[in-house]
Amino acid sequence: MRRRMQYGLMVLTTALVMVLTFWQGNSFALDESGCLTCHQYPGLTRPETPDGFKVFHIDEKRYLASAHGKTDCIKCHTTIHKVPHVGETTVNCTNGCHLAEKDKKLIADTDLKTSHAKEKSYITRLSDGSSCRECHHLYPHHSSELARAFINMHISFMTCETCHINRDKYKTLDYDWTNSETAEFAGQPFGARFNPKIGDASGSEHFISRIAVFSVGNGERKSMLNTWDTEKAKEYLAQEKQMAPDEKKARLDYFHRDIHKAEISVTCNECHSNDTILDFKALGFSDKTAHDLININIKGLVTKYKVFYLPDMFRQ
Ligand code: HEC
Ligand code: HEC
Ligand code: HEC
Ligand code: HEC
Ligand code: HEC
Repeated sequence: MRRRMQYGLMVLTTALVMVLTFWQGNSFALDESGCLTCHQYPGLTRPETPDGFKVFHIDEKRYLASAHGKTDCIKCHTTIHKVPHVGETTVNCTNGCHLAEKDKKLIADTDLKTSHAKEKSYITRLSDGSSCRECHHLYPHHSSELARAFINMHISFMTCETCHINRDKYKTLDYDWTNSETAEFAGQPFGARFNPKIGDASGSEHFISRIAVFSVGNGERKSMLNTWDTEKAKEYLAQEKQMAPDEKKARLDYFHRDIHKAEISVTCNECHSNDTILDFKALGFSDKTAHDLININIKGLVTKYKVFYLPDMFRQ
């Protein structure tokens, strides 16, 4: 699953405009525009009505095997020149292809929205019994156009608290895998489907194992996955409509008493840097993966720069 890309960045003058000069991928032969650098990840999603969320994962193998597997992404996605490219969904089916009269009908009769349906994997259901999930969607992040899909992707690797626990309040924390949690997938199952440390070979496609946070003290090690407020959260939801704003706020503050709102600029570096809070090796990641996760370049995209322009040199 892991392919590392190397790319160089060159900054063009104006303060706000950054230009991404080249993505140098050694594996995505047909992906000359480097789209899969980001789109390769299962679970890349943003909340959206009416289906709940929209999925941006494109599986390379399945894409290559599809009818358009030999077509470079930008042949159809002609309007995507920068990242984030939110809203730029116009696709051109007649950019050198499908020009024949009979193709007009074919295109008119095709539901374009399903074009990549077979190339996407994501979690459709994950019940961890937490209070958080009573009120929040599985893929809850929506504010940051650039980062939300990447943050949502992490739901398949870790529990909410692993990022959101208030580290000022809980100082001695430890990170470890959960035992198998029940999950259902669309596309292909992915992630750690059993506790990789104990090598539980019963890993079935209906399970997933994620990194959770534990509080250590007084000889005790307690999982911080909040399951103790779950019943209260259900009560809250049943009574919410009748509640005065003050009471609502007080109750919500209670549910969030151990939570802090993560900041993107800080959060990515908490794990993907030399000061990582996670001991990747102790968690069972290989030396190479640990090194790659610490040095991953993508975080620069969501923390340092506001807008990227995809390289002109790759445009046809
Ligand atoms: C730096 C990472 C990155 C690169 C490179 C990238 N994308 Fe994206 N793309 C994203 C993210 C993140 C989203 C989801 C944005 C959101 O949350 O609304 C997205 C969304 C999209 C969407 C859906 C837009 C929408 O609002 O529905 C399309 C289509 C798309 N990308 C195509 C491409 C193509 C084609 C390329 C290559 C030319 C490309 N992307 C390169 C990160 C990237
Ligand atoms: C043959 C044309 C074509 C090619 C080639 C193509 N796409 Fe798409 N893509 C589409 C169409 C059509 C849609 C749906 C647009 C809509 O919903 O209006 C789409 C949608 C998307 C979306 C939004 C999620 C979705 O499924 O609606 C992403 C992300 C995306 N494409 C990425 C890519 C990437 C990455 C590549 C190259 C690996 C690629 N596309 C190649 C036609 C294409
Ligand atoms: C009873 C329902 C409920 C429960 C339980 C709950 N939340 Fe929330 N949460 C909300 C609502 C509603 C909001 C938005 C209103 C607000 O800003 O307070 C919110 C906001 C948030 C925010 C954004 C805070 C901000 O300042 O913008 C985070 C982060 C969050 N919740 C995480 C969690 C986590 C993690 C858990 C589990 C420990 C959890 N929530 C449990 C209902 C809930
Ligand atoms: C990889 C770390 C990470 C994980 C895991 C994570 N969050 Fe977040 N969360 C963040 C960051 C960073 C922000 C701030 C986003 C921003 O400023 O746009 C955030 C913001 C939020 C918000 C405010 C809405 C928004 O888009 O800003 C809510 C609600 C929230 N998280 C709930 C949750 C819940 C519920 C879970 C578990 C299902 C969870 N988070 C798991 C990092 C994480
Ligand atoms: C609490 C720790 C933590 C935080 C915070 C975190 N990550 Fe991660 N991230 C991980 C772990 C662990 C993995 C690998 C999971 C796996 O493959 O099993 C990962 C994987 C990734 C990957 C995929 C790497 C690959 O090739 O498999 C990307 C991209 C990524 N993170 C980007 C980000 C960005 C951007 C942020 C900030 C919004 C962020 N991460 C915040 C722990 C974290």
